[in-house]
Amino acid sequence: MKNNMLGLKIGSIAILAVSFLGVGNVHAAVSNTPHNLGTTGPGPNTYSGTAEICVFCHTPHGADVSASVPLWNRSLGLTAPATYTTYDSLGTTSLDGATAPVGSVSIACLSCHDGTQAMDTVLNEPGSGAVVASYSTGQTWTGNSSPQGIALIGTDLSNDHPVGIQYGGGGLTATTPDGTMNDTDFKAAQNDVINGKTVWWVDTEASPGNGTRQKTDMQLYTRSVAAIDGNAAQPFVECASCHDPHTENSTFLRVSNDGSAVCLACHTK
Ligand code: HEC
Ligand code: HEC
Ligand code: HEC
Ligand code: HEC
Repeated sequence: MKNNMLGLKIGSIAILAVSFLGVGNVHAAVSNTPHNLGTTGPGPNTYSGTAEICVFCHTPHGADVSASVPLWNRSLGLTAPATYTTYDSLGTTSLDGATAPVGSVSIACLSCHDGTQAMDTVLNEPGSGAVVASYSTGQTWTGNSSPQGIALIGTDLSNDHPVGIQYGGGGLTATTPDGTMNDTDFKAAQNDVINGKTVWWVDTEASPGNGTRQKTDMQLYTRSVAAIDGNAAQPFVECASCHDPHTENSTFLRVSNDGSAVCLACHTK
């Protein structure tokens, strides 16, 4: 991701500045977070079978190509539940965007957070050996083999912020002039073409933003759904719009939610 590299560089400079101000370190280090599920993880869930960190989510070889997440080491197609109950089933009269089937990066998060498959169910286990579906032979979890409490999102997503939902009231295409939202209750989305693909995001810097996509911006995910506006590629909100699974920020948020900055990045309220 060329643009991301650039974003990272700019991000590093910003991190230095932020650190000097003592606001906090936003440097990504998954090893210090609850997403380190190996023996070196801080908990609450660690697995005795490996000290590797990335393996619970990524593999260098044999990844699930049905996943629109990079080198994904978990089987989405095989074990994902057939249906999720989505937010739109509540029928709130104010909801404008259309809801796509649960997919994209959200389904990758839910492969652990819906609790339907154990977290050591990976495609390519660490070390030498065949590509397998699960490597739980003789190893045990300290804690639990799925997230617990409120972190166990489950398959009923109707009590969660909508995901797989069109941004800005829908109808945004790559040629929509910047700053035009069907629903003016939303901040303007930005877009850019990288490697021939349109990417979307919402800047988190003070208005009008810096126009550059960074990890600390709210990411929007391009999806084309036949039932929604005839397959036009459009930006959607997914789990990783608000969360970066690698950050050390509290609850993996892309920016601190002090002053509800996460919410106000998208909603004009
Ligand atoms: C809990 C699951 C999880 C773990 C553990 C994890 N990742 Fe990721 N990673 C993801 C997801 C989900 C995405 C896609 C996120 C997105 O859309 O922004 C991703 C994206 C990436 C990307 C591409 C986007 C980017 O941010 O540059 C890289 C590279 C990456 N991960 C590397 C790693 C490495 C290296 C490790 C181990 C130190 C690791 N990840 C651990 C879930 C994980
Ligand atoms: C490999 C399994 C796995 C995947 C994939 C995964 N998570 Fe997690 N996640 C966990 C575990 C385990 C915890 C710790 C939960 C607990 O307290 O029991 C956790 C915790 C969290 C927390 C709470 C952290 C805190 O500080 O309380 C958030 C937020 C979160 N995950 C978001 C995500 C998002 C977003 C994705 C996808 C981008 C994702 N996770 C993918 C396993 C996973
Ligand atoms: C619109 C933004 C947004 C989206 C989309 C979103 N989250 Fe969150 N999530 C948050 C915020 C903000 C928090 C912190 C809540 C708090 O302070 O307790 C959070 C907290 C969490 C937690 C920790 C439990 C808690 O509430 O404290 C988990 C786990 C989690 N999210 C997983 C997910 C998963 C999985 C998805 C996709 C199905 C998702 N999130 C989609 C904003 C979002
Ligand atoms: C990445 C952008 C984004 C972020 C960040 C975000 N939202 Fe949303 N939110 C949306 C979109 C898109 C919808 C769908 C609304 C629509 O189409 O009318 C939505 C829907 C909602 C709804 C339901 C509206 C309805 O009519 O039923 C509420 C309430 C809400 N968000 C509150 C929040 C809160 C609170 C936060 C912070 C924790 C937050 N949002 C963060 C984009 C975002």
